[in-house]
Amino acid sequence: MADIRKRKDDHIDIALTKPVTMTRSAGFDDWEFMHQALPELDLADVSLETHFLGHALSAPILVSSMTGGTERSGDINRHLAEAVRELGLAMAVGSQRVMLEDPRALPSFAIVREVGPTMPVFGNLGAVQLNYGMGIDQFQRAREAIRADGMFIHLNPLQEAIQPEGNTNFSRLLDKIETVARALPVPLLAKEVGSGIAPDLAVELTKRQVKAIDVSGAGGTSWAQIEGMRATDPGRQRLAQIFSNWGIPTVQSLRLCRDRLPTLPLIASGGIRNGLDAAKALALGANLIAMAHPLLEPASQSTEAVIAALQQFMLELKVSMFLAGAATIADLQAKPLWRRDGQ
Ligand SMILES: Cc1cc2nc3c(=O)[nH]c(=O)nc-3n(C[C@H](O)[C@H](O)[C@H](O)COP(=O)(O)O)c2cc1C
Repeated sequence: MADIRKRKDDHIDIALTKPVTMTRSAGFDDWEFMHQALPELDLADVSLETHFLGHALSAPILVSSMTGGTERSGDINRHLAEAVRELGLAMAVGSQRVMLEDPRALPSFAIVREVGPTMPVFGNLGAVQLNYGMGIDQFQRAREAIRADGMFIHLNPLQEAIQPEGNTNFSRLLDKIETVARALPVPLLAKEVGSGIAPDLAVELTKRQVKAIDVSGAGGTSWAQIEGMRATDPGRQRLAQIFSNWGIPTVQSLRLCRDRLPTLPLIASGGIRNGLDAAKALALGANLIAMAHPLLEPASQSTEAVIAALQQFMLELKVSMFLAGAATIADLQAKPLWRRDGQ
């Protein structure tokens, strides 16, 4: 058990101190808004308010699943939760597996609900664990521990394949995912961890009662790189290197999934690094954007640092909307983008 807790701290250390972002692009730079020289709007009237799965949010931003399990990650979660409550956003915790196996890890997750008794909070467990002894009971316990408004189930075959201690039996999981989705009293949401979701899989997941998808595409945090830096043997390091840019870029995954599923609540994440990226993601079909790595550094400092980072991001999103002539998120979602290369 100490092993999982140690791994969580390793991930944070590596993500904070080493280059863990893919060298390939998430795709946002290929797309442009048509600049509106006369937006016929007062910047002060641009509104970021939106709804997601029935929750009113002051901006379409989810603080993505990152951590929990150790004292240090409890502080990170508290800083994130206080900022999210203050700004009226939504938050997901990191994988709760550690908490199910070691009760000492519970407070580092529960703190999020203590800080924000009514804010939208989402839990997180890995799908592959359904082949390693986990079932509905564990999902229920994870949900109850933070009174989650929904549970993310993460799909991370690349990460597990590179971890020496990885769980790599991803066979026959769809039926098990459906069983969990049907049993839970709250929505089950699926996410990748940085390699994207293919459109056929998105369709299949929705048939299995998954209510929303976070594409978490390529172009942001590279789990191959993170696991590669933890690896000690040269074979693992080489494996990680080869797959360090693996995946469907965020923009591509988002557009393909949106084409096939016009009404599915879709979250864009993976390499969203400023408010302009976020605006483009929303105009390309996302209902919500999510970020993980950019918030880790501020969250390891203080609540105020997280608030400042998110406020800056929201300002960038607002200015993008102003210049594109969009007064609301719904207006923004209806704005056409054009490809820089003219295709
Ligand atoms: C330090 C760190 C820990 C993470 N832990 C989890 C996790 O426990 N569960 C999960 O589903 N995703 C996890 N992720 C993945 C993120 O939720 C997100 O999908 C991915 O990092 C892409 O977003 P980004 O490019 O903004 O970082 C983690 C990311 C980071 C940086």
